[in-house]
Amino acid sequence: MKTYLVTGGAGFIGSNFIIFMLNKYDDVKIINVDALTYAGNLENLKSVENNPNYSFIQADITDNEAIAKIFDENDIDYVVNFAAESHVDRSISNPDIFVKTNVLGTVNLLNNAKKAWQIGDDCYKPGVKFHHVSTDEVYGSLGPEGYFTETTPLDPHSPYSSSKASSDLLVKAYHDTYKLPMNITRCSNNYGPFQFPEKLIPLIMNNTLLHKDLPVYGDGMQIRDWLYVDDHCKAIDMVIRDGVDGEVYNVGGHNERTNIFIVKTIIEYIKENVDSQVGEHMIKHVTDRKGHDRRYGIDPQKIKDTLGWYPETPFEVGIKKTLKWYLENSEWVKNVTSGKYQKYYETMYKDKKEV
Ligand code: NAD
Ligand code: DAU
Repeated sequence: MKTYLVTGGAGFIGSNFIIFMLNKYDDVKIINVDALTYAGNLENLKSVENNPNYSFIQADITDNEAIAKIFDENDIDYVVNFAAESHVDRSISNPDIFVKTNVLGTVNLLNNAKKAWQIGDDCYKPGVKFHHVSTDEVYGSLGPEGYFTETTPLDPHSPYSSSKASSDLLVKAYHDTYKLPMNITRCSNNYGPFQFPEKLIPLIMNNTLLHKDLPVYGDGMQIRDWLYVDDHCKAIDMVIRDGVDGEVYNVGGHNERTNIFIVKTIIEYIKENVDSQVGEHMIKHVTDRKGHDRRYGIDPQKIKDTLGWYPETPFEVGIKKTLKWYLENSEWVKNVTSGKYQKYYETMYKDKKEV
């Protein structure tokens, strides 16, 4: 029985990861540690909350006392660090919290893992590992050709991606300096259930259903490389089990789409399945994001060749599954866009001017 300390497990990818793991294995114990910011929601974990192998602790990863107590009271084998401030737009208007959570929070976890696991100089309890969940955004932006590989130099542009790159380097430093066992995965844009509707796909879905404007930043020709969230979860599971200590693995499914294509796909789906009144007239091109990265594209050859990972969900299947999920879970969407959450959902695009 391995014990996973999953941080940020009440967020989008973290909750999908916990559900994925508990559905797949009977012999894993998961402790979910989450501060429950606006992006964390325990409703995401309803399907597993009574599973005897699952438990939840509300704590902030920057809180040394709280994290030390968790390590003291539990025999942890793996840390899987999802906890982060994750929204680029928010990092542009308020960078400080990104540095605090993403950088200082990661260091606090590294210090506590090192302390709990170290059994001698450069020597750790057998089988332990710190898995850091990172992003393709640390590599910066691509022109029309080429892909990000694991050796592409880090060149982050936003406060968000810079804070993630900083945390990646700190995880690497704890490996290089103290030999702390670790892996880093850098994944492209995820989509699927439980994504907070500040991000492109659920935001456009919700606004279309509510007949609100559909904000497209700039010309909408920016490219993102979309991966269904379960394929990311599968990659993390494989890297934790079989990844070579100290290695970085890129994760992506060669599924590049322009933002405007994504927006039109969502409109089309709702028009066909829900409401014939919606249409492309709802699109509003608004002020572009500052420092907006033009294109991301992951080369996943390393994880494919060395661990046998491959993306199982084609985009055409995954996007329909996702949009259907949001339609069938309108109560979830309503809950995370109303009451105390409302200001988080609306703030990011409300200030933007039409161009
Ligand atoms: P999210 O914003 O949906 O969830 C983040 C979670 O972390 C929330 O549950 C939140 O409550 C928690 N959290 C925030 N600050 C915390 C703190 N100080 N202490 C404890 N918990 C805290 O994010 P996500 O989209 O699920 O992303 C998860 C991780 O994956 C992040 O590290 C992100 O950088 C990375 N990532 C995301 C994507 C993507 O497309 N969403 C792609 C690649 C990598
Ligand atoms: O690439 C991985 C990253 O993907 C993760 O590390 C981040 O945590 C995650 O938020 C995501 O970042 P993006 O900035 O790519 O995702 P977002 O959904 O915010 O935006 C996707 C694209 O759509 C981006 O080019 C900006 C654009 N956009 C976004 C919103 C919210 C719009 O045009 N309109 C919008 O309203």
